[in-house]
Amino acid sequence: VDRPDPGPPGDVTRGDPVGPLCGGPSFDAGATAYDRFMGRCSRLFVPALLDAAGIRPGARVLDVAVGTGEAALEALRRVGSSGCVIGVDLSLPMMRVAAARAAGRRLRLLAMDGQWLGWRDASFDAVLCQLGLMFFPDPGRGLAEFRRVLRPGGVVGATVWSTIDRMPLAGVLCTALERRLPAQRDTLRLTYSLADADRLAAALERAGLREASVTPTTRRVVFESVDEYVGAFEAGAGRYGQLYLGLPEEDRRAVLRDLRSALARFERAGRLVFDVEGLLAVARA
Ligand SMILES: C[S@@+](CC[C@H](N)C(=O)[O-])C[C@H]1O[C@@H](n2cnc3c(N)ncnc32)[C@H](O)[C@@H]1O
Repeated sequence: VDRPDPGPPGDVTRGDPVGPLCGGPSFDAGATAYDRFMGRCSRLFVPALLDAAGIRPGARVLDVAVGTGEAALEALRRVGSSGCVIGVDLSLPMMRVAAARAAGRRLRLLAMDGQWLGWRDASFDAVLCQLGLMFFPDPGRGLAEFRRVLRPGGVVGATVWSTIDRMPLAGVLCTALERRLPAQRDTLRLTYSLADADRLAAALERAGLREASVTPTTRRVVFESVDEYVGAFEAGAGRYGQLYLGLPEEDRRAVLRDLRSALARFERAGRLVFDVEGLLAVARA
């Protein structure tokens, strides 16, 4: 994954993206800690996404915003030797983690903006986007690209986070950071920017997709202790971890103080237990 791939020969679809490719700080610097915080949460939603998208042996699957490979690695197992899985992402460090986890299995990874995909029309049976679409500067543009590269009848399956109060695992951290970084509120809240199920279904249809359904799905995420939770984002996991590490020492201490008091609500016998809601969106080309 060292060099961006120019895409297949004859590709005429790669545009020259204008403006930022991912809202706010990138996932680059926090890639190695990602799995300790968000990856463990993401992976609980993957089976439902792949079931809903009907990923079967032989399928050609594109995973957009593949990150450290949560959805792609399971898709690889499901498509078997007759299928193929390609992952694209803006972040090489995230994809390097995915490559290491794939450990020789045939997961192809390319650096690419999900809003400008380098394939001809109708190249895939399924396009997955697990917890990435809300960070696109133009999610509608991304969805239109997903539809374009799908064969007729192919499936888009995307998971996005619900509202901040229904995704408390990140929500408590977002709220604590927001107090120190009020000017970054919009950036911090991008995580929850597609949390309205009706609007998301309408966006899928506007992109030319059919039979759109958006289903709220809840999973329980457990950390063995408050320290395990705090340690994961203090290691710089994801965008929030990076924003935290960028704060002056005094503000970092204040964030931790606010956070520890907010986390008390989720403590059960020394562990932290969060019920988190994702929206599972599925539609056909
Ligand atoms: C929260 S992570 C999700 C990663 C993985 N799919 C998972 O479920 O763990 C979001 C990912 O979206 C990627 N991303 C954000 N904007 C993107 C864009 N415009 N095109 C491609 N990837 C993008 C980030 O680099 C990051 O790896």
